[in-house]
Amino acid sequence: MTPVLSVSGVSRRFSTDVLKDVGLELSAGELVTLVGRSGSGKSALLALLAGFDQPDVGEVQIAGVPTETPPPWSTMAVLPQSFGLLDELTLEENVAAPMLFGGGPVADALARAGQLLARLGIGELKRRYPTEVSTGQRQRVALARAVAGRPKVLLADEPTAHLDHATVDLAVRLLLDFVGEGSACLVATHDPRLTARAHRRLRLVDGQLFEDQ
Ligand SMILES: Nc1ncnc2c1ncn2[C@@H]1O[C@H](COP(=O)(O)OP(=O)(O)OP(=O)(O)O)[C@@H](O)[C@H]1O
Ligand SMILES: [Mg+2]
Repeated sequence: MTPVLSVSGVSRRFSTDVLKDVGLELSAGELVTLVGRSGSGKSALLALLAGFDQPDVGEVQIAGVPTETPPPWSTMAVLPQSFGLLDELTLEENVAAPMLFGGGPVADALARAGQLLARLGIGELKRRYPTEVSTGQRQRVALARAVAGRPKVLLADEPTAHLDHATVDLAVRLLLDFVGEGSACLVATHDPRLTARAHRRLRLVDGQLFEDQ
């Protein structure tokens, strides 16, 4: 089966060699974690996979097709380390936005947004704005928005960094259900509560990618 996301021979240099000859494949149904020390290149790799940055050499393919520009959100969604919520929209509107861009009915999009927020323990906050909730609550909104449109691939950058133990459990269950419906997810994380439940674990060391056994 063609992997949903594949990377071969990718290198990227900024002032030093951040990524060296990185290769990886991500298949439908997989929750894969990416660990590595702060500054090891996790976010840089996610930016290349998302099409926000281009490798110096090497190739990124989605479903066998090389990517050069960011793919549509319905194909690949991103949960950035800084969340990227829109402050002018309520929490439920933020979550619904990708579905509305996809042309879905407003009522359905808002209903799904409300369900996802409730699953993450913040259903009662859905009419508030991002500036009116806590950092961990904003992080959950960004997670709900990332899975809302059922993208084929989700790239998530430290999605549990601001969450308490019980809330991490809600987030991991959501991600496992999301990949269980046929998507794939790559998560950069320092969080052992997430790596422990992933299907595969990758590690960046000195710019090279290794698979933990
Ligand atoms: N656009 C850029 N220009 C120059 N250097 C960059 C750029 N992006 C990343 N870097 C450098 O690449 C290295 C990897 O950064 P990156 O943000 O990928 O680390 P990280 O593993 O995500 O760290 P953290 O766990 O702290 O989020 C760092 O040394 C960083 O300074
Ligand atoms: Mg990072």
